[in-house]
Amino acid sequence: MMLKGGYLLLFIIFSFFCFSQQLWEEGRPTPVDGLHNPYQLNEHDFALANRQGRIHSLHYPVKITGLLLPYEPIRRVADQEYNNPIREILYKIVSDISKVQSFDDITRWLGLHDYPLYEGEGPYYVPMDFSEKENRMGFTVIEQNNTKGFTFSCAACHSANLFGSRIIGLTNRFPRANSLFVKGKQFFHFVEPKSFSLFTGASAQEVDLIRRTKNNLNYVEAREPSFIGLDTSLAHVAISLSRRARDEYASKRRIHSIFPRYEDLRYYVADSKPGVWWNVKYKNRWLLDGSVVSGNPIITNLLWNEIGRGTDLYQLEDWLEQNQNVIEELTTAVFGAQAPHMTDFFGEEYFDLQKAKLGQQIYNQAQCYKCHGHYQKTWDLDNPSITHWSDIYKTQSVDYPEQTLVKNVGSDPQRWKGMASLKQLNDLAISKKYGIKIKPQEGYVPPPLVGIWARWPYFHNNSIPNLCALFSPSKNRPKSYYAGPAINKDRDFDFNCNGYPLGEKTPKEWKKRQFLYDTKKAGMSNTGHYKKLFLDANGNEIYSKEEKMALIHFLQTL
Ligand code: HEC
Ligand code: HEC
Repeated sequence: MMLKGGYLLLFIIFSFFCFSQQLWEEGRPTPVDGLHNPYQLNEHDFALANRQGRIHSLHYPVKITGLLLPYEPIRRVADQEYNNPIREILYKIVSDISKVQSFDDITRWLGLHDYPLYEGEGPYYVPMDFSEKENRMGFTVIEQNNTKGFTFSCAACHSANLFGSRIIGLTNRFPRANSLFVKGKQFFHFVEPKSFSLFTGASAQEVDLIRRTKNNLNYVEAREPSFIGLDTSLAHVAISLSRRARDEYASKRRIHSIFPRYEDLRYYVADSKPGVWWNVKYKNRWLLDGSVVSGNPIITNLLWNEIGRGTDLYQLEDWLEQNQNVIEELTTAVFGAQAPHMTDFFGEEYFDLQKAKLGQQIYNQAQCYKCHGHYQKTWDLDNPSITHWSDIYKTQSVDYPEQTLVKNVGSDPQRWKGMASLKQLNDLAISKKYGIKIKPQEGYVPPPLVGIWARWPYFHNNSIPNLCALFSPSKNRPKSYYAGPAINKDRDFDFNCNGYPLGEKTPKEWKKRQFLYDTKKAGMSNTGHYKKLFLDANGNEIYSKEEKMALIHFLQTL
C-alpha cells in the first residue's frame, strides 16, 4: 500500500499531466481513486455540472436527433378507450411481453423506470425539479419545427430500479431500446403518414415529423438481442452504417439504403450489457473489451447513439461544437457516478467482519488484484473513525491498474470478436476531430469491482447468474437460469450467493420462456475465469467452500 504522501505526489504529477497533455489521449494514466472530476471543477461547479449531466442522461440533449415520434397523437391514440387501426398495430407490435393498454404501458415495455418520490443523494441522486417527470426515466420529449416528438435517453439503458432505489449509471436489467427500433421499423412499414394523420388527428407538422423519421429509418437497422437484458448496440451501429455511404460523414444516399453492404453483425451475435458508469473513472479505455482507446467516451457514445438514429453527421458535428457545455456536464455526471452500498440495503445482521476479512485474504492470495485492483478498507486502517456500524465496511481507496488491462480469461469471445466491424468508425470525420480511436482487442477489461454486489448477472454477456456460480467450475455452472427485476430483496435476490436466486428459490412469476437465459446459444456461453484462479497445478481446488463464501462476502463490501 502506498502512503498518503504518495497519493498527493501522484495527484500533483497527474494534475500537471492533465494540464500539459490531452485529457483523452491514448494511454493517459488513471490516477489512484479514478478520474472522478475530469475537468477539475471546484465543489460548487462540480455539483452544478453533475446535476445538469444527470438531467441530460434522463432527458436526451441532442435536439437534432434523427428519429422522433410524434408525441401527442401517439399518446392520445394509446390512451383512448376505443380501438382504431393505428392503436391496434401499435399494441400488436409491443404486446409480445405483457399486456399493453396505455401509453405508460408502452414506455414501461421499453424498460423505463418511473421516477422516485424523492431526489435522494450520492448514488441515489435523481434530479427532480425539471419538466417531463410525468413520464418515465429516460423518456424525452423534444421540440422540432414547433412539434413535439419523443425519444429516449441514456437512462433507458443506464439506470435501474434496485429494490426501490433508482440508480443512474447502474445497468438496466431489462432495456428494450433495440427492440423499439426493430418494432418502429415494422410500425412504419404498415403505417403511411397520411393514414396516421387520418386516424390520430395528427397536424401537418406532425405528419412532417413522421416523414422525416420514416426517411431516416431507411438508414437504421437494428437487431433483437439474443436475451432480454442484453443489448445489440454494436450490431445496430455497424449495420446502420452499412446503409450509408463509406465516406467521412457516412452520407445518406438512397442507393445504399436500398442495397446495404454485407455486414457480419447482421448475423453474428456480439451482444453485451450496458456498462456501469461508476467504473468509467477508473479506466483509460472504454467499452467492455477496452477497444475504444482514446477520445472522450461520452462523445463516442453520442456518435454511436446518433448513427443508430439515422442522424446527419454534418448536423451532429455542428451540434457537438455548439454544445461543449452539455458534453462536459454529461462527462462529469458519468465520471462522477457512484456505486450503491450494500449496507444501505441490508442491515447489520447480514454482515460479518471476520468473514469479510477472510475473504480479503483469499482475494489477495488468489491475486485477483493483479487484474481487478486493490481496495483498501476502513478495517485496514490503524485508527479508523467509526460513527455508524457500516463505516467499518467502507472502501477507503481504489488502486486500479494505471493502464487498463484487457485479458482473455476464456469467457465467450463473440463480443470482442464483433468489434472488428466497428473499426470503420475511425474513418469518420467526427472520430478524427475528437481523437476517437477503436482498436479491436482479444478479451475483456477486468472490471473494477466497486459496487459489484449490485451488478448481477455477471460477465459481459450476463451468462453467470450469481457469484456462487462464478466461483464454480464451468461444468458446474447453471446452463440456464431465469432473470427477474430487483424489487423485493428477500425474494428476488440470493444474499449468500449474491445474485439471482436459482432452482427452487426462483420466483414463480419469472418462469417464462422470455426470461430464460440459455448458455447454449451463440455468444451466450458461461465458460472461463476459473482454472488458473481456483485450481492448483494438479487440477485440485485450492479453496474450501467456506473460503469462497468469504470471498463473496468481501466483494459485497466493495
Ligand atoms: C441502447 C442502450 C444504450 C443507450 C441508450 C446508451 N448506452 Fe451506453 N452503453 C450501452 C452498452 C450496451 C454498452 C457496453 C457495450 C460494450 O462494451 O459491449 C455501453 C457502454 C457505455 C459506456 C462505456 C462504459 C465502460 O465501462 O467503458 C459509457 C461511458 C456509456 N455507455 C455512456 C452512455 C451515454 C452517456 C449515453 C447517452 C448519451 C448512453 N451510454 C446511451 C448501451 C446504451
Ligand atoms: C487475469 C486477469 C484476471 C484475474 C487474475 C481475475 N479476474 Fe476476474 N475478471 C477478469 C475479466 C477479463 C473479467 C470479465 C470477463 C467477461 O466479462 O467476459 C472478469 C470478471 C470478473 C467478475 C465479474 C465482473 C462483472 O462485472 O460481471 C468478478 C466478480 C471477478 N472477475 C472477480 C474476480 C476474483 C474474485 C478474482 C480472484 C479470485 C479474479 N476475478 C481474478 C479478469 C481477471
